[in-house]
Amino acid sequence: MKNIKSIESLSEHNYKLSNSVKNLLDIDQLETNDLDTIFTLTEIIDSFLTNNDKKTSLLKGKTIVTLFYESSTRTRVSFEEAGKLLGADVINMSGNGTSIDKGESLLNTCLTLQSAHTDLIIVRHPHSGAPYFMSKHLSKTKIINAGDGWHAHPTQALIDLYTAKQSYDDLKGLKLVIVGDILHSRVARSDILGFQKLGVNVSLCAPKSLLPTTLLDKSTSDASDPYNTVSVEYDLEKALDNADIVMPLRIQQERLGEVSGFPSLREYSSRFQINDKTLKFAKPNAIVMHPGPMNEGVEISSEIAHSDRSQIENQVRYGVAIRMSLLYLMLIGGDFND
Ligand code: CP
Repeated sequence: MKNIKSIESLSEHNYKLSNSVKNLLDIDQLETNDLDTIFTLTEIIDSFLTNNDKKTSLLKGKTIVTLFYESSTRTRVSFEEAGKLLGADVINMSGNGTSIDKGESLLNTCLTLQSAHTDLIIVRHPHSGAPYFMSKHLSKTKIINAGDGWHAHPTQALIDLYTAKQSYDDLKGLKLVIVGDILHSRVARSDILGFQKLGVNVSLCAPKSLLPTTLLDKSTSDASDPYNTVSVEYDLEKALDNADIVMPLRIQQERLGEVSGFPSLREYSSRFQINDKTLKFAKPNAIVMHPGPMNEGVEISSEIAHSDRSQIENQVRYGVAIRMSLLYLMLIGGDFND
């Protein structure tokens, strides 16, 4: 780590992203050297946060809006905290109490925020592609995708990559097993792109009803489909064999509708839960990650969720530093600026 005295003094160093795209819509926009830059900054910032040396004015005068059309705890709180610690003005918006309640469209909401001098919008939306649509219509205001439908969650993928690197440093050749509701998971999709970029072998384990159709029928996928290059195993014991990183996912009941895709949660847990018994099939030092929110007792047992093997609290901790790095790079440093 360079000799950096405070978060404030990051501005004396030339940290920047090589990517010329001004919005972060998914993780595949970032080159490997961009990931290195984000992770280097994250390590520096996290060390200052850990020593309670937190508040800076690097983003003084910048206005950030968190625009959340779906519920969130981790993403929303950590982006708000990240913006405030960097000295930005952060405004939180959701349907309640705004003109979204009165039927204002996404486009008009965004154009309004742009006219009100917003530098960056962090958006979560139930429709896949909403941040892409916004980015096409906003010339001055930047966009970070904080989760769009079933599609992408690039900042969670950055957190997951960084957390894994804290345990293993070099991820090349490791085996990541993602277990659970892959079908509805924007995290799984962005994680596959990110982990594969760093040379990780990704394996999926779920009932067929919770896997994407493009995975089950390759003739329906196109060349850019991240599911083209993963392996699938329906038996948890076999899937976990030789695993270095195990990531159970929540069943997204809110997206399942009336058809659950499996007989009962009890049966699902008996076949796919990560617990003391099933984790024995992975490598003895395998770590467990979960993007949250967790349904303890369903996809993961409480014992494992709060064990030494679990990196779940670290994922939340690193989320603040990852998002501070990204806000700094997008609003001050490098080629993300037009
Ligand atoms: N991982 C994640 O996106 O959590 P939240 O829904 O709480 O933001």
